[in-house]
Amino acid sequence: MTDPRLEIIDRRLSTIDHIIAVCSGKGGVGKSVVASTLSLLLARRGLEVGLLDLDFTCPATHLILGVGDATPEEERGIVPPSFHGVEYMSLIYYTGERPTPLRGGDITNAIIEILSVTRWGRLSHLVVDMPPGLGDATLDLMRLIPRMEFLIVTTPSRIAFQTVRRLIELLREADRVILGVLENMVLESSGRIRGEVEAMGLKYLGFIPFDPKLEEALGDAEALLQTDFATSLNAAVSSLLPD
Ligand SMILES: Nc1ncnc2c1ncn2[C@@H]1O[C@H](COP(=O)(O)OP(=O)(O)OP(=O)(O)O)[C@@H](O)[C@H]1O
Ligand SMILES: [Mg+2]
Repeated sequence: MTDPRLEIIDRRLSTIDHIIAVCSGKGGVGKSVVASTLSLLLARRGLEVGLLDLDFTCPATHLILGVGDATPEEERGIVPPSFHGVEYMSLIYYTGERPTPLRGGDITNAIIEILSVTRWGRLSHLVVDMPPGLGDATLDLMRLIPRMEFLIVTTPSRIAFQTVRRLIELLREADRVILGVLENMVLESSGRIRGEVEAMGLKYLGFIPFDPKLEEALGDAEALLQTDFATSLNAAVSSLLPD
């Protein structure tokens, strides 16, 4: 028997034009700062945007944005609070600051639950901050939301890119849309990652230099938007949007 909640998920997401998963083969490459800042940048462009934190290992976007005590409202589902023009939803509303040591089936259930209770408004983009790697959560989301589009983050590290390569292969086998690859924390651009990405027939979205001032801007959405990190990200994502 199919889970009736799967139909509900489709309905809940039907008000959203694009669902963008910010993902990587590896942890610590900047997915959460990219996802958080991307949602602010899209909102600043006047788009209707949502941000969904689905990092089961350690949700962090609430800390990056400084969401504070904004909490969702219950009304025939859960209505995400609006924060700097972004409809914001996170696993943190379920788990608090407790660790989330969920495994296999529990992760699937939690993902299905959050997707089936959240009542998004009409959005042009929903940005999803993904957990690292090719774990259960990533595979579940590929299955539950086939129209999800993937924005892949890597660093210049050969090891990071090796794991990204595997993620790309997996996404391609499953016929998923890959928006492109973003190179983050670049100290000195060598063009190597661009070459590798383009050789795979994918779009190289650009690079974001390592920004020593980023850390002190975390927790303050306005300050985040003023960083060089945000400026570089803004330029990189322009190519993803209609003029
Ligand atoms: N371009 C950059 N310049 C300087 N610091 C950066 C940059 N990008 C990310 N960071 C820092 O690197 C750390 C890791 O970033 P982040 O938490 O976004 O990575 P992640 O990929 O989401 O990690 P995880 O896989 O654990 O969820 C953070 O402290 C962040 O501020
Ligand atoms: Mg993260």
